[in-house]
Amino acid sequence: MRIAAVGDVHLGEDSRGLLRPALDHLAGTADVLLLAGDLTRHGTCAEARVVADELTGLGVPVAAVLGNHDHHSDEADGITDLLGEAGVTMLEGTAARFDLPDGSLGVAGVKGFGGGFAGKCASRFGEREMKAFVETTIASADSLRTALASLETDVVVALTHYAPIPGTLHGEPPEIHPFLGSYLLCEPIDEAGADLALHGHAHFGCEQGVTPGGVRVRNVAQPVIRKAYALYELKPAKQPARR
Ligand SMILES: [Fe+2]
Ligand SMILES: [Fe+2]
Repeated sequence: MRIAAVGDVHLGEDSRGLLRPALDHLAGTADVLLLAGDLTRHGTCAEARVVADELTGLGVPVAAVLGNHDHHSDEADGITDLLGEAGVTMLEGTAARFDLPDGSLGVAGVKGFGGGFAGKCASRFGEREMKAFVETTIASADSLRTALASLETDVVVALTHYAPIPGTLHGEPPEIHPFLGSYLLCEPIDEAGADLALHGHAHFGCEQGVTPGGVRVRNVAQPVIRKAYALYELKPAKQPARR
């Protein structure tokens, strides 16, 4: 099955028509489009209307998580509603199933949050602000775990905005790694044995990495993949369907 994915398209009110030409023939190339957040620049509903129009009627299912930019103006609920009305399956600690020509695809999605990676990470200790920071990531990872566990599909993909591993952050300054992702997001991906993990957010990172458990990770931030979308071909496991 052919999975098209991109994140960090960062459309503004002046971006109408920028994304769409490259997606017009998507149905001949891919079976599904997954969006890894940061769909807008400043997280306004006005920008989300542009995103919604660019994504309407592509001829393939579209699923998305939001990114931190999509939260900037405290209009995330409105953005979620607008994109949902345009036919995009919006995921936040939830999962969706798509029955595609080559088999069933399950996508578990969550925005995620920061905190850093093994040996260099924040911990739930000290000031209430620090505890709240880490608890946000813990809750996010827990919801991803629940979403992944709910899937009984041939292929399982984890979709986040924040990075689950440091391997796809090469190129980013190490000082900001704790703001780019968290190892806590990786644990449910490995526990579930997902077939692929997609994220964005790390504009200066690299595309390919792998979790400690061997799950392929791809950073599909548009500045990294340098094209309208990346395309990944996954082969559904033979009978019986996974889990
Ligand atoms: Fe971004
Ligand atoms: Fe981001």
